[in-house]
Amino acid sequence: TANTDTLVGEVLLAEPRGFCAGVDRAIEIVERALTKFGAPIYVRHEIVHNTYVVNDLKAKGAIFIEDLAEVPPGATLVFSAHGVSQAVRREAAERGFSVFDATCPLVNKVHIEVAKLAKEGYEFIMIGHKGHPEVEGTMGQLNEGIYLVEDVADVAAVRPRGTKLAVVTQTTLSVDDAAEILAEVKRCFPEVREPKQQDICYATQNRQDAVKVLAPTVDLVIVVGSPTSSNSNRLRELAQRLGTTAFMIDAASDLQQQWLDDARRDGQPLRVGLTAGASAPDILVQQVIARLKALGAGAVRKMEGVKETVHFPLPLGLGDKSMAEL
Ligand code: F3S
Repeated sequence: TANTDTLVGEVLLAEPRGFCAGVDRAIEIVERALTKFGAPIYVRHEIVHNTYVVNDLKAKGAIFIEDLAEVPPGATLVFSAHGVSQAVRREAAERGFSVFDATCPLVNKVHIEVAKLAKEGYEFIMIGHKGHPEVEGTMGQLNEGIYLVEDVADVAAVRPRGTKLAVVTQTTLSVDDAAEILAEVKRCFPEVREPKQQDICYATQNRQDAVKVLAPTVDLVIVVGSPTSSNSNRLRELAQRLGTTAFMIDAASDLQQQWLDDARRDGQPLRVGLTAGASAPDILVQQVIARLKALGAGAVRKMEGVKETVHFPLPLGLGDKSMAEL
């Protein structure tokens, strides 16, 4: 193996990276529910797609389930940040759970738009990844009249019954892929109604913009994120598309020295770019930095980037006021 003293030179941190406001809020909801009501707190689906976060909450008394039949009567149930279908919402009410909704407000905004336009007689094309819980939640706002397209080739196959058609998207898509698919939607359905503001959220946009700045300046990009995290996968894919080798890791221990050895072409110390998906906690980034330092990394430098100030309030009953009253 190479001499690890000089394997890694500089580490460049993408800005912004890591937690978004929706993830922050979702985790806070579970933690506050645990404090206020005690364990166990049931959570439908992984609260956010991150292994570390889920294991941490499990240790504190959260129980993650997929099927509401697994939740005992009278229990407290939290919906994950990805949102739920109307069928799940109805079932939870019928089973009499005390529900806290951690659906990201930016996902909820899409749900509200779908419900409003459906009342006006619209059908929908949804751009998203099949099987992702957010897509199931958004598609599940309606019983019919919402058609999923995953790529450009899917678009021409859509056969709306009426003439009023609107487009919505998953919030965590590749900005560039979504633009390409949307162009095809507009080509096939010139009258289609677009969202006033794109459904791809600020956090997805900003993290992808940051990778576009970072990737060309480094030899290798490491993305901290879990395999199920849509936005983390998109960050890795984007760096790779820009011509920089990129790996996604769930924890510092996943980082393989071989990747670094392979990336070092000219014997010079490597420049490693580091970012994290919207569901990946900063502690994991710090652990990766520690690992890179052990491999010889000296300077850690933050890139210039957009400062994020978005913050979402907690739901009623878990907000700051009620906590003060405890
Ligand atoms: Fe919400 Fe975007 Fe985060 S939709 S949960 S702010 S990645």
